[in-house]
Amino acid sequence: MIKLSKRLETVASYVDDNAKLVDIGCDHGLLDIYLAQNRKNITIIASDINKNALDNAICNIKKHKLENIISYRISNGLDNINAEEIDTVVLSGMGSHTIVGILYKNLAKLKNVNNIIVQSNNHIDFLRYKITKIGYYIKDEKLVKDAGIIYTIICFSKGRRYYNRRKIYFGPILLNNQDKLFKEKYGDELNKLKILYKLIPKNHYHHRIKTYLKIRMYKKINL
Ligand SMILES: C[S@@+](CC[C@H](N)C(=O)[O-])C[C@H]1O[C@@H](n2cnc3c(N)ncnc32)[C@H](O)[C@@H]1O
Repeated sequence: MIKLSKRLETVASYVDDNAKLVDIGCDHGLLDIYLAQNRKNITIIASDINKNALDNAICNIKKHKLENIISYRISNGLDNINAEEIDTVVLSGMGSHTIVGILYKNLAKLKNVNNIIVQSNNHIDFLRYKITKIGYYIKDEKLVKDAGIIYTIICFSKGRRYYNRRKIYFGPILLNNQDKLFKEKYGDELNKLKILYKLIPKNHYHHRIKTYLKIRMYKKINL
């Protein structure tokens, strides 16, 4: 049995038995191997834009003799994936703009997709905003610390819910729980914002006001 990092283990925890999964940007394919070994009746397309990455995945999949469960495909995002093949999409380890770009380029391919599971390290608010705009709500989200880095992992499911700015920014479920990692992550960010604010020249009004308002938003959540 393959052992995953805490980050990928959390991504995997949102994938159900019976899922028809595409893992976009699979790279090494370790997530797919783990899921093939641990989920009943799953089918997986391991996909990457990069041939070397996909070759690496293919090599690992063959080593574990899982070709009957995991197929593989070179694809820029969802370009070479058919809507009928998938009901779950994983996009992990990519920037938020890349993830959103991939989804928005092929919205029609999401017609049967119930769950979109994402892990990105930047602009998580942008990710929440853009994915909730296309008919998904935040079913669950978690922070995990892996090798000293705090990662945000979100599972979106089909359906609509309204989120105000604070919820989009901090995450509706994370905000509700406010666990130790939440306080650590957003406490660090608040400290950085305070330092930044002091460094912004007095005549850069727009930047100063934007940063000030952000600091005020952080202060309201009692870190
Ligand atoms: C940092 S790796 C993440 C690997 C794995 N998903 C993880 O979370 O550990 C990012 C992978 O995404 C792939 N990638 C980047 N843009 C892509 C796109 N538009 N379509 C498919 N794959 C893409 C890269 O080639 C790379 O293998």
